[in-house]
Amino acid sequence: MTITVKVEEAGFRPASRIASVGVSKILQIGAKAALMKREGLPVIILGAGEPDFDTPDHIKQAAKAAIDAGETKYTALDGSPALKQAISAKFARENGVDYAVDEITVGTGAKQILFNAFMATIDAGDEVIIPTPYWTSYSDIVEVCGGTSVLVPCSAEAGFRLQAEQLEKAITSKTRWVLLNSPSNPSGAAYSAADYQPLIEVLLRHPHVWLMVDDMYEHIIYDGFDFVTPAALEPRLKSRTLTINGVSKAYAMTGWRIGYAGGPKALIKAMAVIQSQATSCPCSVSQAAAITALNGPQDFLKDRQESFKRRRDLVVSRLNAITGLDCRTPEGAFYTFSGCAGVLNKVTPKGKTLLSDADFTDYLLEEAHVAVVPGSAFGLSPFFRISYATSEAELIQALDRIEKACADLK
Ligand SMILES: Cc1ncc(COP(=O)(O)O)c(C=O)c1O
Repeated sequence: MTITVKVEEAGFRPASRIASVGVSKILQIGAKAALMKREGLPVIILGAGEPDFDTPDHIKQAAKAAIDAGETKYTALDGSPALKQAISAKFARENGVDYAVDEITVGTGAKQILFNAFMATIDAGDEVIIPTPYWTSYSDIVEVCGGTSVLVPCSAEAGFRLQAEQLEKAITSKTRWVLLNSPSNPSGAAYSAADYQPLIEVLLRHPHVWLMVDDMYEHIIYDGFDFVTPAALEPRLKSRTLTINGVSKAYAMTGWRIGYAGGPKALIKAMAVIQSQATSCPCSVSQAAAITALNGPQDFLKDRQESFKRRRDLVVSRLNAITGLDCRTPEGAFYTFSGCAGVLNKVTPKGKTLLSDADFTDYLLEEAHVAVVPGSAFGLSPFFRISYATSEAELIQALDRIEKACADLK
């Protein structure tokens, strides 16, 4: 859900490419919640898209050492050879997929990788299939690049996962990409090898369609779920698959802005052309930090995963105990995407009828002082997303308030 950019000052004319793109509902809610907080209201914000952990110390030390060693200049355009080597080793070690260094690109966050990929491949009218609920930036980036997002609703009953028949139906001669995200922001749903297989079979029948996968939350996964990435599952698809990942979520490095991808050489080269005219290269110091993140110890990931799992279990069980809410247990990431059909058409103590998930989340913000994001912001209603990347104490307080707010509805 977006708000359209308007002519706000005489003489300013925005480019038509941003006509349908704007500030996301997530940011609007965040801004409203922050304003309420500044006004002294005890607002709890469950909207953060980043881990509440700090970047591990050994990674920070690597960045400091890089500064002292003078690694403060431009690097190779789309990533230093040492970082590409570390990424290549990571893909082989963790995913069982071989990407040579010239099949790897590094950008200023996975967001820039997505932007580079769409800028480099989308012409006006080209279609990108995006299962919903989806991370809002996907369709906005596609629209900025002049493409058309083809949104395919994926129900809670289907585990918020795209089904083969849906994919088959959505493919047209104009389809350029299908974009899958596992584990997903906002649903936390993940695709197993068995979930991917029927989709892969469809894609093998449509050689003009390329596959973009966003594995950003790979390391935040629970209950022994076996994470897989499609390029490792089907070698015949690898030559038209872009495998996106990054250090933001796994290593709590959102501010360092390093994302990367493995893919066919020609695509990687085309993406570098876009990057060369945008940022020249990712930050040199952050690249040094990312090398240490990928090559260094990985044992702390397990502890962090455990901590997220405790919070996931707390949130899911509390939400499911509330009449009117229905929360599927997510396989990964740090979000719940709970159904709220059972509170719709109920009336708030102030006499307002809740007609949509956005009405419900407005009610939670205004009356319970809890900021969460409606499913409509992610293209699927009636749901709402909670980010549980916050302290257990704060989560308990927020859930108490949500429970009371729901009990107060008539
Ligand atoms: C699914 C998904 N992909 C990519 C990103 C962007 O990551 P980065 O910080 O590397 O740009 C996010 C950030 O919220 C995300 O949720």
